[in-house]
Amino acid sequence: MYLTRLEERMLAGEYGYAAQKAMEILVALGKVYGAERMIKIRSAQISGVSYGNLGEEGLEFLLKLAEDGRVRVPTTLNPCGMDLEKWGEMGVPEDFAERQLRVVEAYRKLSVEPTLTCTPYLAGNTPRLGDHIAWSESSAVIYANSILGARTNREGGPSALAAAIAGRTPLYGLHLDEARAPTVIVNAPKIRGELEASALGYRVGRILGSGIPFFRGLETVSRDQLKALGAGLASSGGIALFHVEGITPEAHTHAEVRAEDKIEIAEMDLQEEIEILSDDFSDSDLAFIGCPHASIEELTELYLLLGNRSAKRRFWVFASRAVRAQAERMGLLRRLEELGVKVYCDTCPVVAPLNKLGIKTVITNSSKAAYYLRNLHGVRIQLKPLRRLVEDIVR
Ligand code: F3S
Repeated sequence: MYLTRLEERMLAGEYGYAAQKAMEILVALGKVYGAERMIKIRSAQISGVSYGNLGEEGLEFLLKLAEDGRVRVPTTLNPCGMDLEKWGEMGVPEDFAERQLRVVEAYRKLSVEPTLTCTPYLAGNTPRLGDHIAWSESSAVIYANSILGARTNREGGPSALAAAIAGRTPLYGLHLDEARAPTVIVNAPKIRGELEASALGYRVGRILGSGIPFFRGLETVSRDQLKALGAGLASSGGIALFHVEGITPEAHTHAEVRAEDKIEIAEMDLQEEIEILSDDFSDSDLAFIGCPHASIEELTELYLLLGNRSAKRRFWVFASRAVRAQAERMGLLRRLEELGVKVYCDTCPVVAPLNKLGIKTVITNSSKAAYYLRNLHGVRIQLKPLRRLVEDIVR
């Protein structure tokens, strides 16, 4: 693998321990994937921030890197295990909180911006068409590749951190034109709302496992529905890029789709997917939206659906601090809070220690959350579109 003089010197340890470790990881990765050289990146986004995932060993590694390491490009963080300001109100145990704060502090020392969101593109880290980046949250990776037209492989937390410290990543996979062509055409039914978009993604990801779908029939899809579609695709499958005819920025370069495979998804398939992911129970411990983190449009829609009715049960919204601040400036946050809605930042339902909070049954509108909460935390799930979810919590 060709390395520039600077890259060689980083690898030799002339720029310190962290830069050397970063280059070791990147060179090893490049060799595995046959990369000929590195490419400079414009931003990084790091997952694996929850103390629950990192553990003591992960924290020690971060602290060691932070002794002499600094990131070379703007870098943001995925959600951690709690709202940094309201963890007490969420019911997060103190020993967990203390360790989680140490993790975030270690990233701060590395000059990483603790945005703690899976929607960095709604919080200031918004790449442009053609930008090379190294992101690791799967729902953000697929959004950046597909909707923004940036270029990133699906990095792991360590390789995204290494890329951030070195300011580069091996040139292979989705950084290359030829790897971005569709591999299968998907004829989709008309989508009504975020849950159907999420279920469509989950269904197609489950059928394909990998590859690059080219969707037809989604002409009226909204930005939030694309966000939900991508998160679904990336959670049931290893998919990191999709195209939507007439909508996504690279779709027109594949107007003549050569993919021979074609799948048809009908409206009833989406309902079936929703049923497969849903359990039977009458009382929920928690209802939430915001997987991926909610946009300002979603918060507005929630407010409109609530009307003047208050939530009678525990109802959480997960959003980035940037979106929360926007809602605060608009007066929307105060109105939602008056109706009993809690808006939490920095965290998400899957990485927060829900089991320690005694939460066993959940209603949500995200197939990704349903999949992970069931499989990682043994939580029972009901999937409902936002409109029905709201009717449930005001009763
Ligand atoms: Fe985001 Fe957590 Fe869902 S990271 S995509 S809210 S599982």
